[in-house]
Amino acid sequence: MKKIAIAGFGTVGGGIAHLLRDNQKVLADNAGENISLGAILVRTMKADSEFAHLMTTDFTTIEQDEDICLVAEAIGGVDVPFEIACRTLKAGKGFVTANKALVAEKGHILHALAKEHNVPFLFEAAVGGGMPIIRPIRTSLSSTGINYVYGILNATSNFILSEMDKGNTYDQAVKEAQARGYAEADPSADVDGIDSARKLAIILAMITGKKTSPDDIRTVGITALKDTCGGRVKLLARAAVKDDGVHAEVSPVLVDEDSLMTCVKSDRNGIVVRGEGSVETAYFGVGAGAIPTASAVLSDVVEAIRRPVYSDECAWGAEELKVLPWTDSELAEYRS
Ligand code: HSE
Repeated sequence: MKKIAIAGFGTVGGGIAHLLRDNQKVLADNAGENISLGAILVRTMKADSEFAHLMTTDFTTIEQDEDICLVAEAIGGVDVPFEIACRTLKAGKGFVTANKALVAEKGHILHALAKEHNVPFLFEAAVGGGMPIIRPIRTSLSSTGINYVYGILNATSNFILSEMDKGNTYDQAVKEAQARGYAEADPSADVDGIDSARKLAIILAMITGKKTSPDDIRTVGITALKDTCGGRVKLLARAAVKDDGVHAEVSPVLVDEDSLMTCVKSDRNGIVVRGEGSVETAYFGVGAGAIPTASAVLSDVVEAIRRPVYSDECAWGAEELKVLPWTDSELAEYRS
């Protein structure tokens, strides 16, 4: 029996608790051990929750519980999760997260700490929600030099564009995205492309082994769009890896009529990864939401239990990647 803790009990944290409760057998079969929930870190206690008996507002109890082997973080933001991540790793426990801001900003530090304490640090859910992309890059494509990626990495803005395809205005589409729980009350991180830039930065750090700052990636969102040209305008995250750096951008793009991206609608994410020797692979899945994201988090929990040590496949260090603008020559060379 392996005991884990969840930090955060919002949409994703709640999804992890429910999926862990409902999928015990498949998780045990795949992990090789039963997995139980030992504690949930919350900001305020929720007495009416079925998980109330597991809740604590004091991380020290989790940190000092020797039976808890791993913390799955779904708090959001950077400062508090970073402190929790550091304390978890230093306590010799694995750390799994869905938090792209944390991984994009502090991933290199967390990799170093995980290595020092020889414990897993995994973040499949941080990019693409339920769409697998971290593990394919880490393992399946490890024999291929990756030189081009393009994709839709934000479910909220893709949902908004799909609503606009149906004839709704941008404002109506944002309201619908909020009503369905995709968009926050302040949707700016999604619609301004910031969320996509963080996810692209994580992918680039993994491909190049260098720290990539999302702030260095030219980022244009969807707020000024009036027309989606029949579903062909997509908020794309694109990067071409070159010897002298990476040309990267997040922006609305009129994709080719036969592009795989035209099939990526609503809350779906999709990404194409092109490698050397014409190796081209594509990934697709639900990009946000409680259960898709929780299922990605729990896939990391399973991996961490099967292999409870640090793994440096696609780790990155503190050296900064040089990010170059996306120019007309890349436009001509790379089709999306
Ligand atoms: N806000 C994010 C999105 C959540 O809409 O894609 C998943 O990372």
